[in-house]
Amino acid sequence: MIEVSSLVKYYGDIRAVDGVSFEVKKGEVVGFLGPNGAGKTTTMQILTGYLNPTSGRVLIDGIDVVEEPVKVKERIGYLPENTPLYEDLTPYDFLEFVASVRGIGNGRKAIKETAELCGIMDVLYRSIGTLSKGYRQRVGIAQAILHNPKILILDEPTTGLDPLQIEEIRQLIKELGKEKTVLLSTHILPEVEQTCSRVIVINNGKIVADSAIETLKGELSGTSVVVEYRGELPPESLSVFGSVQTLKTEDGLYSIRITPHESRDIREDVFRFFKEKDAVLLELYRERKSLEDIFRQLTEQ
Ligand SMILES: Nc1ncnc2c1ncn2[C@@H]1O[C@H](COP(=O)(O)OP(=O)(O)O)[C@@H](O)[C@H]1O
Ligand SMILES: [Mg+2]
Repeated sequence: MIEVSSLVKYYGDIRAVDGVSFEVKKGEVVGFLGPNGAGKTTTMQILTGYLNPTSGRVLIDGIDVVEEPVKVKERIGYLPENTPLYEDLTPYDFLEFVASVRGIGNGRKAIKETAELCGIMDVLYRSIGTLSKGYRQRVGIAQAILHNPKILILDEPTTGLDPLQIEEIRQLIKELGKEKTVLLSTHILPEVEQTCSRVIVINNGKIVADSAIETLKGELSGTSVVVEYRGELPPESLSVFGSVQTLKTEDGLYSIRITPHESRDIREDVFRFFKEKDAVLLELYRERKSLEDIFRQLTEQ
Protein backbone atom coordinates (compact mmCIF):
# COMPACT_ATOMS: atom_id res chain seq x y z
CA MET A 1 0.00 0.00 0.00
CA ILE A 2 1.19 3.48 -0.88
CA GLU A 3 0.15 6.45 1.27
CA VAL A 4 1.21 9.90 0.15
CA SER A 5 0.32 12.94 2.21
CA SER A 6 0.85 16.62 1.49
CA LEU A 7 3.93 16.06 -0.60
CA VAL A 8 5.81 19.18 -1.67
CA LYS A 9 9.01 19.36 -3.69
CA TYR A 10 10.87 22.49 -4.67
CA TYR A 11 13.72 22.61 -7.17
CA GLY A 12 15.14 25.98 -6.24
CA ASP A 13 12.20 28.30 -6.79
CA ILE A 14 10.23 25.82 -8.88
CA ARG A 15 7.46 24.06 -6.99
CA ALA A 16 7.38 20.79 -8.95
CA VAL A 17 5.09 18.99 -6.51
CA ASP A 18 2.53 21.10 -4.70
CA GLY A 19 0.71 19.35 -1.87
CA VAL A 20 0.09 15.96 -3.40
CA SER A 21 -1.91 13.37 -1.42
CA PHE A 22 -3.23 10.02 -2.57
CA GLU A 23 -3.38 6.35 -1.73
CA VAL A 24 -2.87 3.22 -3.73
CA LYS A 25 -4.31 0.14 -2.11
CA LYS A 26 -2.96 -3.36 -2.31
CA GLY A 27 -3.67 -4.98 -5.67
CA GLU A 28 -4.73 -1.83 -7.47
CA VAL A 29 -3.39 -0.80 -10.88
CA VAL A 30 -3.48 2.97 -10.87
CA GLY A 31 -2.63 5.41 -13.63
CA PHE A 32 -0.77 8.58 -12.76
CA LEU A 33 -1.74 10.87 -15.57
CA GLY A 34 -0.58 14.34 -16.44
CA PRO A 35 1.02 16.45 -19.15
CA ASN A 36 4.77 16.83 -19.40
CA GLY A 37 6.16 18.82 -16.51
CA ALA A 38 3.16 18.04 -14.27
CA GLY A 39 5.32 16.49 -11.56
CA LYS A 40 4.89 12.75 -12.20
CA THR A 41 8.56 11.80 -12.30
CA THR A 42 9.41 13.93 -9.28
CA THR A 43 6.58 12.32 -7.27
CA MET A 44 7.69 8.84 -8.30
CA GLN A 45 11.30 9.55 -7.40
CA ILE A 46 10.15 10.56 -3.94
CA LEU A 47 7.93 7.49 -3.62
CA THR A 48 10.83 5.22 -4.43
CA GLY A 49 13.26 6.93 -2.08
CA TYR A 50 15.51 8.39 -4.77
CA LEU A 51 14.65 11.97 -3.94
CA ASN A 52 13.75 13.58 -0.66
CA PRO A 53 10.61 15.70 -0.47
CA THR A 54 10.78 19.30 0.69
CA SER A 55 7.89 18.40 2.98
CA GLY A 56 5.16 15.80 3.29
CA ARG A 57 5.26 12.10 3.88
CA VAL A 58 5.26 8.82 1.97
CA LEU A 59 4.51 5.50 3.61
CA ILE A 60 5.07 2.23 1.77
CA ASP A 61 3.31 -0.58 3.63
CA GLY A 62 3.47 1.72 6.62
CA ILE A 63 7.21 2.35 6.29
CA ASP A 64 8.42 5.94 5.95
CA VAL A 65 10.45 6.38 2.77
CA VAL A 66 12.72 9.07 4.16
CA GLU A 67 13.42 7.21 7.39
CA GLU A 68 13.93 3.75 5.93
CA PRO A 69 14.77 4.02 2.22
CA VAL A 70 16.50 0.63 2.11
CA LYS A 71 13.48 -1.22 3.49
CA VAL A 72 11.25 0.63 1.05
CA LYS A 73 13.44 -0.25 -1.92
CA GLU A 74 13.11 -3.91 -0.99
CA ARG A 75 9.36 -3.63 -1.33
CA ILE A 76 9.28 -1.55 -4.49
CA GLY A 77 10.21 -2.24 -8.07
CA TYR A 78 10.96 0.93 -10.01
CA LEU A 79 11.22 1.53 -13.71
CA PRO A 80 12.68 5.01 -14.11
CA GLU A 81 11.62 7.27 -16.96
CA ASN A 82 14.79 6.81 -18.95
CA THR A 83 15.96 3.42 -17.85
CA PRO A 84 19.72 3.54 -17.54
CA LEU A 85 20.80 0.29 -19.11
CA TYR A 86 24.35 -0.79 -19.66
CA GLU A 87 24.55 -1.02 -23.42
CA ASP A 88 27.53 -3.37 -23.57
CA LEU A 89 26.12 -5.90 -21.15
CA THR A 90 23.75 -8.67 -22.10
CA PRO A 91 20.41 -8.70 -20.28
CA TYR A 92 21.64 -11.75 -18.39
CA ASP A 93 24.80 -10.02 -17.17
CA PHE A 94 22.86 -6.89 -16.35
CA LEU A 95 20.27 -8.83 -14.33
CA GLU A 96 23.06 -10.78 -12.63
CA PHE A 97 24.57 -7.45 -11.62
CA VAL A 98 21.21 -6.22 -10.33
CA ALA A 99 20.76 -9.49 -8.42
CA SER A 100 24.11 -9.08 -6.70
CA VAL A 101 23.47 -5.44 -5.82
CA ARG A 102 20.08 -6.37 -4.41
CA GLY A 103 21.54 -9.32 -2.57
CA ILE A 104 19.22 -11.84 -4.21
CA GLY A 105 20.22 -15.30 -3.01
CA ASN A 106 19.50 -17.54 -5.96
CA GLY A 107 20.20 -15.05 -8.74
CA ARG A 108 20.15 -17.53 -11.58
CA LYS A 109 16.70 -18.83 -10.69
CA ALA A 110 15.33 -15.32 -10.23
CA ILE A 111 16.77 -14.20 -13.57
CA LYS A 112 15.33 -17.17 -15.41
CA GLU A 113 11.85 -16.75 -13.94
CA THR A 114 11.85 -13.00 -14.49
CA ALA A 115 13.18 -13.31 -18.03
CA GLU A 116 10.42 -15.75 -18.87
CA LEU A 117 7.74 -13.52 -17.39
CA CYS A 118 9.06 -10.48 -19.25
CA GLY A 119 9.56 -12.33 -22.53
CA ILE A 120 13.26 -11.69 -22.93
CA MET A 121 14.52 -15.28 -23.03
CA ASP A 122 15.35 -14.93 -26.74
CA VAL A 123 17.60 -11.94 -26.25
CA LEU A 124 19.14 -12.85 -22.90
CA TYR A 125 22.66 -13.21 -24.33
CA ARG A 126 22.70 -10.35 -26.85
CA SER A 127 24.16 -7.03 -25.86
CA ILE A 128 21.55 -4.57 -24.66
CA GLY A 129 22.79 -1.92 -27.08
CA THR A 130 21.54 -3.97 -30.04
CA LEU A 131 18.03 -4.51 -28.69
CA SER A 132 14.87 -2.75 -29.85
CA LYS A 133 13.28 -0.16 -27.56
CA GLY A 134 10.52 -2.65 -26.77
CA TYR A 135 13.00 -5.28 -25.60
CA ARG A 136 14.99 -2.70 -23.65
CA GLN A 137 11.85 -1.70 -21.83
CA ARG A 138 11.22 -5.34 -20.99
CA VAL A 139 14.75 -5.58 -19.62
CA GLY A 140 14.01 -2.45 -17.58
CA ILE A 141 10.87 -4.06 -16.19
CA ALA A 142 12.76 -7.28 -15.50
CA GLN A 143 15.29 -5.26 -13.53
CA ALA A 144 12.43 -3.70 -11.55
CA ILE A 145 10.78 -6.99 -10.58
CA LEU A 146 13.81 -9.23 -10.13
CA HIS A 147 13.57 -9.10 -6.33
CA ASN A 148 9.85 -9.89 -6.54
CA PRO A 149 8.53 -6.67 -5.01
CA LYS A 150 4.83 -6.41 -4.25
CA ILE A 151 4.67 -2.80 -5.43
CA LEU A 152 5.66 -1.63 -8.90
CA ILE A 153 6.26 1.97 -9.90
CA LEU A 154 6.59 2.47 -13.63
CA ASP A 155 7.45 5.88 -15.04
CA GLU A 156 6.07 6.21 -18.57
CA PRO A 157 6.60 2.56 -19.44
CA THR A 158 5.32 2.85 -23.01
CA THR A 159 6.71 6.21 -24.08
CA GLY A 160 8.80 5.98 -27.21
CA LEU A 161 7.53 2.55 -28.22
CA ASP A 162 5.77 1.67 -31.45
CA PRO A 163 2.12 0.52 -31.31
CA LEU A 164 2.95 -3.17 -31.33
CA GLN A 165 5.52 -2.77 -28.57
CA ILE A 166 3.06 -0.66 -26.60
CA GLU A 167 0.48 -3.43 -26.78
CA GLU A 168 3.05 -5.99 -25.63
CA ILE A 169 4.15 -3.88 -22.69
CA ARG A 170 0.51 -3.27 -21.76
CA GLN A 171 -0.12 -7.00 -21.70
CA LEU A 172 2.92 -7.48 -19.51
CA ILE A 173 1.76 -4.77 -17.11
CA LYS A 174 -1.70 -6.36 -16.96
CA GLU A 175 -0.08 -9.69 -16.18
CA LEU A 176 2.05 -8.14 -13.44
CA GLY A 177 -0.99 -6.28 -12.12
CA LYS A 178 -2.64 -9.58 -11.23
CA GLU A 179 -0.13 -10.09 -8.45
CA LYS A 180 1.22 -6.65 -7.72
CA THR A 181 0.16 -3.18 -6.78
CA VAL A 182 1.05 -0.96 -9.72
CA LEU A 183 1.36 2.79 -10.13
CA LEU A 184 2.22 3.80 -13.67
CA SER A 185 2.65 7.26 -15.02
CA THR A 186 1.76 8.41 -18.49
CA HIS A 187 0.91 11.52 -20.44
CA ILE A 188 -1.08 9.44 -22.92
CA LEU A 189 -4.75 9.07 -22.12
CA PRO A 190 -5.72 5.79 -23.77
CA GLU A 191 -2.94 4.21 -21.76
CA VAL A 192 -4.89 4.60 -18.53
CA GLU A 193 -8.14 3.44 -20.04
CA GLN A 194 -6.49 0.27 -21.29
CA THR A 195 -4.46 -0.72 -18.29
CA CYS A 196 -5.74 0.89 -15.11
CA SER A 197 -8.78 0.64 -12.89
CA ARG A 198 -8.26 4.02 -11.32
CA VAL A 199 -6.67 7.24 -12.40
CA ILE A 200 -4.99 10.03 -10.49
CA VAL A 201 -4.62 13.16 -12.59
CA ILE A 202 -1.85 15.63 -11.83
CA ASN A 203 -1.36 19.06 -13.34
CA ASN A 204 1.08 21.77 -12.27
CA GLY A 205 2.12 19.69 -9.28
CA LYS A 206 -1.44 19.36 -7.98
CA ILE A 207 -3.87 16.46 -8.02
CA VAL A 208 -6.90 17.52 -10.04
CA ALA A 209 -8.79 14.21 -10.06
CA ASP A 210 -8.66 10.86 -8.35
CA SER A 211 -11.30 8.28 -9.14
CA ALA A 212 -12.24 5.13 -10.97
CA ILE A 213 -12.08 5.73 -14.70
CA GLU A 214 -15.79 5.07 -15.11
CA THR A 215 -16.67 7.40 -12.23
CA LEU A 216 -14.54 10.12 -13.73
CA LYS A 217 -16.31 9.77 -17.04
CA GLY A 218 -19.68 9.78 -15.27
CA GLU A 219 -18.94 12.77 -13.07
CA LEU A 220 -17.83 14.87 -15.94
CA SER A 221 -20.13 13.49 -18.57
CA GLY A 222 -22.01 16.23 -20.30
CA THR A 223 -25.72 16.84 -20.24
CA SER A 224 -25.88 17.25 -24.00
CA VAL A 225 -28.23 14.86 -25.71
CA VAL A 226 -27.93 13.54 -29.22
CA VAL A 227 -31.20 12.81 -31.01
CA GLU A 228 -31.70 11.06 -34.27
CA TYR A 229 -35.18 11.14 -35.76
CA ARG A 230 -37.15 10.92 -38.97
CA GLY A 231 -39.95 13.24 -40.03
CA GLU A 232 -41.12 16.74 -40.66
CA LEU A 233 -40.10 18.19 -37.32
CA PRO A 234 -37.62 21.05 -37.87
CA PRO A 235 -34.64 20.87 -35.52
CA GLU A 236 -35.44 24.40 -34.22
CA SER A 237 -38.65 23.11 -32.68
CA LEU A 238 -36.50 21.35 -30.11
CA SER A 239 -34.91 24.57 -28.97
CA VAL A 240 -37.44 24.61 -26.11
CA PHE A 241 -35.00 22.21 -24.40
CA GLY A 242 -31.81 24.12 -25.05
CA SER A 243 -29.53 25.18 -27.84
CA VAL A 244 -29.81 22.97 -30.88
CA GLN A 245 -27.03 22.05 -33.23
CA THR A 246 -27.72 20.12 -36.39
CA LEU A 247 -25.15 17.37 -36.89
CA LYS A 248 -26.60 15.75 -39.99
CA THR A 249 -29.64 15.95 -42.26
CA GLU A 250 -30.25 13.40 -44.93
CA ASP A 251 -33.46 12.31 -46.69
CA GLY A 252 -35.68 13.40 -43.82
CA LEU A 253 -33.31 11.92 -41.28
CA TYR A 254 -32.04 14.33 -38.67
CA SER A 255 -29.22 14.03 -36.22
CA ILE A 256 -29.04 16.88 -33.71
CA ARG A 257 -27.38 17.77 -30.45
CA ILE A 258 -29.33 19.56 -27.73
CA THR A 259 -27.38 21.27 -24.99
CA PRO A 260 -29.72 22.24 -22.15
CA HIS A 261 -29.39 25.76 -20.79
CA GLU A 262 -29.16 24.55 -17.25
CA SER A 263 -27.44 21.32 -16.37
CA ARG A 264 -30.15 18.66 -16.18
CA ASP A 265 -31.14 15.39 -17.79
CA ILE A 266 -33.61 16.25 -20.56
CA ARG A 267 -33.93 12.78 -22.06
CA GLU A 268 -37.33 12.00 -20.63
CA ASP A 269 -38.81 15.33 -21.72
CA VAL A 270 -37.41 14.90 -25.21
CA PHE A 271 -38.91 11.45 -25.42
CA ARG A 272 -42.38 12.75 -24.40
CA PHE A 273 -42.05 15.59 -26.87
CA PHE A 274 -41.55 13.14 -29.72
CA LYS A 275 -44.40 10.98 -28.50
CA GLU A 276 -46.74 13.98 -28.44
CA LYS A 277 -45.75 15.04 -31.94
CA ASP A 278 -46.05 11.45 -33.09
CA ALA A 279 -42.59 11.73 -34.61
CA VAL A 280 -40.26 8.80 -35.15
CA LEU A 281 -37.46 8.83 -32.62
CA LEU A 282 -34.62 6.59 -33.75
CA GLU A 283 -31.98 7.33 -31.20
CA LEU A 284 -31.66 9.35 -28.00
CA TYR A 285 -28.58 9.34 -25.82
CA ARG A 286 -26.58 11.50 -23.50
CA GLU A 287 -23.29 12.43 -25.04
CA ARG A 288 -20.36 10.78 -23.33
CA LYS A 289 -17.24 12.78 -23.06
CA SER A 290 -14.06 11.08 -24.07
CA LEU A 291 -11.26 10.84 -21.58
CA GLU A 292 -9.53 13.46 -23.74
CA ASP A 293 -12.34 15.93 -23.16
CA ILE A 294 -12.31 15.22 -19.44
CA PHE A 295 -8.58 15.68 -19.27
CA ARG A 296 -8.74 18.97 -21.12
CA GLN A 297 -11.50 20.14 -18.79
CA LEU A 298 -9.53 19.15 -15.70
CA THR A 299 -6.26 20.69 -16.73
CA GLU A 300 -7.68 23.90 -18.15
CA GLN A 301 -8.61 25.22 -14.73
N1 LIG B 1 16.23 18.22 -11.51
C1 LIG B 1 15.41 19.24 -11.71
N2 LIG B 1 15.80 20.52 -11.50
C2 LIG B 1 14.98 21.56 -11.69
N3 LIG B 1 13.70 21.45 -12.11
C3 LIG B 1 13.24 20.21 -12.35
C4 LIG B 1 14.07 19.04 -12.17
N4 LIG B 1 13.34 17.96 -12.50
C5 LIG B 1 12.12 18.41 -12.85
N5 LIG B 1 12.05 19.75 -12.78
C6 LIG B 1 10.87 20.59 -13.05
O1 LIG B 1 9.84 20.16 -12.19
C7 LIG B 1 8.60 20.11 -12.87
C8 LIG B 1 8.04 18.70 -12.83
O2 LIG B 1 8.85 17.85 -13.60
P1 LIG B 1 8.65 16.27 -13.69
O3 LIG B 1 8.45 15.74 -12.32
O4 LIG B 1 9.75 15.71 -14.49
O5 LIG B 1 7.26 16.19 -14.47
P2 LIG B 1 6.67 15.02 -15.41
O6 LIG B 1 7.36 13.76 -15.07
O7 LIG B 1 5.21 15.03 -15.08
O8 LIG B 1 6.91 15.45 -16.82
C9 LIG B 1 8.86 20.65 -14.26
O9 LIG B 1 8.56 22.01 -14.26
C10 LIG B 1 10.34 20.38 -14.46
O10 LIG B 1 10.87 21.33 -15.35
MG1 LIG C 1 8.32 12.44 -16.28
